[in-house]
Amino acid sequence: MVTDPVREETVRVGLLGCGNVGSALVRLIGENADLIEQRAGVHLEVNRVAVRNLARERDVPLPAGRFTHDAEAVVTDPDIDVVVEVIGGIEPARSLITEALKAGKPVVTANKELLANVGKELFETAEGSGVDLLFEASVAGGIPLIRPLRESLAGDRIRRVIGIVNGTTNFILTRMTEEGSSFQDALAEAQTLGYAERDPTADIEGYDAAAKAAIIASIAFGARVVAGDVYREGIAEITDHDIASAHDLGYVVKLLAVAEELDGEVAVRVHPAMIPVHHPLAAVRGSFNALFIEGDAVGELMLYGRGAGGGPSASAVLGDLIDAAKNLTSGGRGATIGALGRRRARPIDEVESQFYLLMEVADQPGVLAKIADQFGRHAVSIKSMQQRGIGADARLIFVTHRAREADLRATVHALRDVDVVHRVGSVLRVLGDED
Ligand SMILES: NC(=O)c1ccc[n+]([C@@H]2O[C@H](COP(=O)([O-])OP(=O)(O)OC[C@H]3O[C@@H](n4cnc5c(N)ncnc54)[C@H](OP(=O)(O)O)[C@@H]3O)[C@@H](O)[C@H]2O)c1
Repeated sequence: MVTDPVREETVRVGLLGCGNVGSALVRLIGENADLIEQRAGVHLEVNRVAVRNLARERDVPLPAGRFTHDAEAVVTDPDIDVVVEVIGGIEPARSLITEALKAGKPVVTANKELLANVGKELFETAEGSGVDLLFEASVAGGIPLIRPLRESLAGDRIRRVIGIVNGTTNFILTRMTEEGSSFQDALAEAQTLGYAERDPTADIEGYDAAAKAAIIASIAFGARVVAGDVYREGIAEITDHDIASAHDLGYVVKLLAVAEELDGEVAVRVHPAMIPVHHPLAAVRGSFNALFIEGDAVGELMLYGRGAGGGPSASAVLGDLIDAAKNLTSGGRGATIGALGRRRARPIDEVESQFYLLMEVADQPGVLAKIADQFGRHAVSIKSMQQRGIGADARLIFVTHRAREADLRATVHALRDVDVVHRVGSVLRVLGDED
């Protein structure tokens, strides 16, 4: 049977930024041109590219004449149909995207920082102009997450999303767990391999994950959540003792981004946590990312893959670009972000978790009773206790049942004043092991 050839329309792309993601995107568009035309019926042509430094050599199959350092000229060019922003940061990305949307041009962006801070304003501008603003690559790079949340799961009620969304910290924690590396050595290795920036603060302290968590919560719960709403702790304080205790208790330590809906409120946080070795997220090693989604109807769902890197991120950007191009040529629109309502962000003090605590204590009779008394007074119930070492080296390891953060904090505070407690070392949340 002979089928009609798919009608092919050329969509002219204006690219803002040609670094890791931008250059991989240009190459992918070139390599997969036939595939894209066959599958989507559009021909993508990167007509203009804005960069900061015109003299820089770039491994992309484009003539030099397509490059400019005038990003605004790309956006306003009447010969550009769709704009892709892969510059990063707030400005000039915010102004350029706004200008493109107001001119009726769909925009694809990979910019988590921008969306996590001023996403609402940009979505409203896109809505006002009736054009697409797509951002699949902004969370977890190559892993399709935004589209599954917005489209495939649009009819389900999402209860919780737990993500490993930062490859650098997952690499470091994996090295500490599997090779016994110290935090500093694992960080240095991540920097040598190019997984960590020279200034690793954004990754190590959880800022990068917090921006992604804000976007995840906004999409999963239709709520306006900005990066500043996200409670955040990084991994710099994780010690080899914590890693060893986790192993002994049947857990591994991961930096998690957790977005939950609790009685109509949203709780969004980023912190290291112990998860059971049999939890699917425990198997996410090295620089890989994953999202574990819990929905009423779908149950448990996990998405796994490369959360960063030019190729994986370009794959996600290109998916969005094809979507935007198809919508443009057909006169349609992708799934829109509806009104993002303000919901109460549940403060961390009111959130419940299980906890792991490590204490250095005097090795003498009556110690346990004094410690247990403090837990009891603050309504924190002990699930298990183990002793490690003897004499001056005696350490107690507790895992609690679910308790409010505020109660746990009060317990730790009180324990510091108990004479037989020399030191409360680490306190870590335990997730995925609900009693
Ligand atoms: N890299 C990843 O793995 C990854 C993953 C997911 C999402 N993202 C996001 O994707 C975006 C881009 O990341 P990237 O890693 O590709 O960054 P990058 O390698 O630093 O590239 C940034 C590009 O933007 C250009 N640029 C900077 N300021 C500009 C300006 N004022 N006008 C025009 N061009 C300008 C730079 O030009 P020059 O080349 O001349 O310096 C460069 O080509 C960021 O939002 C990032 O968060 C990245």
